[in-house]
Order: sequence, then C-alpha cells, then structure tokens
Amino acid sequence: MNMVQDLSLSSLVVREFDRNKDCSGVEDVERRCDVGPTGEVSLFTDLLGDPICRVRNSPAFLMLVAELGQEKEIVGMVRGCIKTVTCGKKHSRNSKNVTVSHRNNNDDDNIKPVPVYTKLAYILGLRVSPSHRRMGIGLKLVKRMEEWFAENGAEYSYMATENDNQASIKLFTGKCGYAKFRTPAILVNPVFAHRVKVSKLVTIIKLAPSDAESLYRRRFSTTEFFPRDIDSVLNNNLSLGTFLAVPRGELAEESWPGSDQFLADPPESWAVISVWNCNELFKLEVRGASRLKRTFAKTTRIVDRALPWLQLPSVPELFRPFGFHFLYGLGGAGPRAAKFLKALCGHAHNLAKGSGCGVVATEVSNREPLKAGIPHWKILSCAEDLWCIKRLGEDYSDGSVGDWTKSPPGMSIFVDPREI
Ligand SMILES: CC(C)(COP(=O)(O)OP(=O)(O)OC[C@H]1O[C@@H](n2cnc3c(N)ncnc32)[C@H](O)[C@@H]1OP(=O)(O)O)[C@@H](O)C(=O)NCCC(=O)NCCS
Repeated sequence: MNMVQDLSLSSLVVREFDRNKDCSGVEDVERRCDVGPTGEVSLFTDLLGDPICRVRNSPAFLMLVAELGQEKEIVGMVRGCIKTVTCGKKHSRNSKNVTVSHRNNNDDDNIKPVPVYTKLAYILGLRVSPSHRRMGIGLKLVKRMEEWFAENGAEYSYMATENDNQASIKLFTGKCGYAKFRTPAILVNPVFAHRVKVSKLVTIIKLAPSDAESLYRRRFSTTEFFPRDIDSVLNNNLSLGTFLAVPRGELAEESWPGSDQFLADPPESWAVISVWNCNELFKLEVRGASRLKRTFAKTTRIVDRALPWLQLPSVPELFRPFGFHFLYGLGGAGPRAAKFLKALCGHAHNLAKGSGCGVVATEVSNREPLKAGIPHWKILSCAEDLWCIKRLGEDYSDGSVGDWTKSPPGMSIFVDPREI
C-alpha cells in the first residue's frame, strides 16, 4: 500500500452493520459492485432490503461495514457466520472411539463411523466499492471478521467464489492464508412453463422434519460440512420439506415405519432431497444478455406455454428479477438411486413452478455419485465453485482427523442452504 492510500484510509472505521442507518449505504455499494464487464451476461442479486438475509438463519452471524471520512460514506462490507459441522469421521465401538488409523480390520463389522465436529466460520458477501478498491479495505474487513471468528472459538474459516474471480482469490489465498479446498458444482435448472412428468415407477413420500432429521443424522452425519444443528435447518420456515422416493407400491406416507426401521431394511433403491425456499430471501436477475438471446428466450417461452404437450424446454424469464428453490441434503442408495433422484428433482421442479420460481438450484461435490440424476442446464450452471479454507489458529490439538485443510475430498459434501 502506498502513502496516499495510507492517508486516505486513516479515517476508515470498520464497525458492525446498523440496520437503522446503514441500509441505503450498503445497497448503494451492492449496486455499484453489481456492474458486470460490458457486453457480458452477469447475475444481479436483489437482497430485498435486508442486507443480512444471507446469514440471518445461521446460529451466529455478523455483518461489518467499512465507513470512510467525515461524510461517513460506506465503502465496503462483509458478512460472516459460525456453526458446527462435520469435518471427518472416526470409528466407534461400544461407546469407545477408535481412530481410523488405529482400527483393527477384524473389528469392521462392530465398528460404526461417527462424525467428528468442528466449529466452522464462513465469509460471504464481501464487497468494496469500485472507487475504493486496492486500498486494503477488503483485507481489513476480512481480518476484522476473522478476529470475531476466533473470539467465538471457530477453528476454521472458509469462503466460496467463482474460480475466475482473481481479485477475491488473490486476496484470500495470497494475503489471508487461505488454501484452495473443494470445487463443488452448482447445478441450475430452469423452471419451465409446463409441469415436468415424474416417473410412475416411484412413490414420493414427504417426511416430517423429525423423521427427516433422524434419516439425515443416521445416513449423512459423517459427510463433510454436515451441520450439527440440522434440526434447525429442517424446522426453519424456509425449508419446504424433505421428500423420499421409493419403488412404487413399497411404502406409503401413512405406513412410514420411522427412519431406523427404514434404514435397517431399505428398499432396493431410494433417494432423498430437501427443498429450501430462497424465493422470499432474495431475487436474482440476469443482465447484459444480447437482444437476440432475449428474443430467443421469449419465443421458447411462448411456444412452451402455448403447446405444453411438446415438452419443449423453454428459457425461463431470467431477465427480470426471479426467485429460486435450493435443493439440499441429496442422497440415496441402490442401483436406481440416481433415477429416483431425478424423479425427486421433477417433483421439486413442479413445486418451484407453483411458487413462481425462475430456477431450481443445487450444489454438490464434483465426485457425487448421484450427480447424473440431477437435471440442469450447463449454461446456467457452474462446473467448479471454488471453496477456500484456512485454519484460524495453530494451537489446536490435532484430534482424530488431523488438520481438515489437508484432507482429501470425500465423495459427497453437505451444502447448507442457509449459506446460499
Ligand atoms: C474482492 C474485493 C472485495 C477486494 O477488495 P479490495 O478492497 O480492493 O482489496 P484489497 O485492497 O484489500 O486487496 C488486498 C489484496 O488482494 C489482492 N487483490 C485485490 N484486488 C485484486 C485485483 N483486482 N487483482 C489482483 N489482486 C487483487 C491483492 O493481493 C491485494 O494486495 P495489493 O493491493 O497489496 O496487491 C473487491 O475487488 C470487490 O468488491 N469485488 C467485487 C465483489 C467480489 O468479488 N467479492 C468477493 C466475493 S467472495
């Protein structure tokens, strides 16, 4: 940083966001940050007047703003949240815990994997006004947020960004000590003007939140990033339900035996998803598409609406603000699990259509075995979302999983809908 920048930053104050006086200043920075490079299609986010909407559902959260000069102009902000998640697994037998490396192979049948939890912080929504970039404001906001993370006992901090966002990647990996960690795929499917046909070979059952919780705890609690407070996710008003697909005729909602019994004697194939309603949290809008593209989109929509039996995939109305549903907790087992997941995605599409959404989105590990069952449009999706992680302190005992930042990726990850 040079002297001029140092001087101009001497009046910079980083403080907690105050809803009563900061909303318009924050919105102004958001708007100025949203300007995409000319000619390119970019995605705009409208936070519907609630700057903390993307963190407010987490157990602990904070939003900071950077205020400059006597005018107290807001020139940047960052959000952060902390929760407890799975970072690995160990093996347990008769209440005695045995670490993976010390396990005796003969004991395999008696040993059950159990999750190892850690306190994880997440940084999101970092923005610095274009007129005040490269002055160290972004760095200052991140450092101050990390202090709050450490004060609250977080062991790791992570962030997600597009893998071509050089400014953000350089800031986090170059200046803040983060390392590239996971590259999940964001899969987005448009909501068509017609309903999608759901396979007649499956029965879809809606699980009560308590049944969904026990199913997830039993099946997914050792998946990395699984939130220990999954019950608060499932019971949140934004969670529209958990849906299970089983072979037709095998089970009905009225005869649901409970998760323990279901998993003790599962059908040959099954799949599960949960749906989160982002529709009311914020809206997205695609801007910068050429007139030709817009006209094409409009034409397919009209044809799709007029001739629904053709089942033409129409481009949804993305050029005005639209909401979306997010699918989380995707899983299943058996040879037809991916097909069953596809049926569940069809069901979710129809739910989203009923709510007037523009798209249905999800995020899964690139190695997710069930990925093939998730319908999506490549043009709307992101093959590699980049997650970077940092261990916040050096003084942790290494526990039974060691340093999570050095661990290889698993087949699946659990993407928490509260952090979308
Ligand atoms: C990313 C962003 C927050 C950086 O804010 P900033 O205040 O300009 O960053 P800083 O001045 O603190 O930069 C610190 C370091 O980050 C790196 N960096 C920041 N912007 C960079 C750029 N455009 N290109 C390359 N490196 C960059 C540099 O290493 C820089 O140190 P240096 O200036 O001494 O070389 C800002 O560019 C922004 O708001 N972008 C749009 C929104 C966004 O992408 N947010 C991140 C989402 S996770």
